[in-house]
Amino acid sequence: MRAHDVKEILIDKSEIAQRVDSLVDEIISDLKPERLLVVGILKGSFMFLADLMRSFHRHNVHPRIDFLTLSSYGSGTISSGTVDIIHDLRDDLSGAEVLLVDDILDTGRTLAFTKKIMLERGAKSVHSCVLLDKKAHRSVEFEADYAGFAINDHFVVGYGLDYDNLYRELPHIAKVGFHE
Ligand code: XMP
Repeated sequence: MRAHDVKEILIDKSEIAQRVDSLVDEIISDLKPERLLVVGILKGSFMFLADLMRSFHRHNVHPRIDFLTLSSYGSGTISSGTVDIIHDLRDDLSGAEVLLVDDILDTGRTLAFTKKIMLERGAKSVHSCVLLDKKAHRSVEFEADYAGFAINDHFVVGYGLDYDNLYRELPHIAKVGFHE
């Protein structure tokens, strides 16, 4: 494994907090939040999802919540190209208005796959919300309905995102530098 270090901060925690609130404003004005089933894609979305839910609370709305654990990355920085369900939802999806929440949209495979499954299982609607949108490696046609920040082609960590399951605890988004 190459040595790596967490480099500069790309998005600091106050920018994230402001953007989370404005995303929730958008979601509430577009969708009926009291009908929403928020589905967090683990592990990467856990911090973003918790902050979104706190913001929903400040807006006095009470969405339901469930989790799906997926894996498309091994232990490195390159997508394996397939998406596996490691832990499935508990809730019944028939008629549900789903808001999928993920940390980052990259190739698009994870969200395209998940949206398809949710609709096949009877969800009435499926919208998606990501903190980061990295357009450089898109391999399937997919755009998020709500995206916090567009970023260039960096591997990033923090605020739930990891390198080899490390750095998820950082309160900001940082770039990872690699050297031999
Ligand atoms: P896809 O390619 O399916 O990717 O759109 C979504 C998942 O890929 C992971 N991912 C990253 N994880 N830093 C990370 O820590 C990154 O820069 C990065 N880019 C993609 C992430 O797990 C996401 O849910």
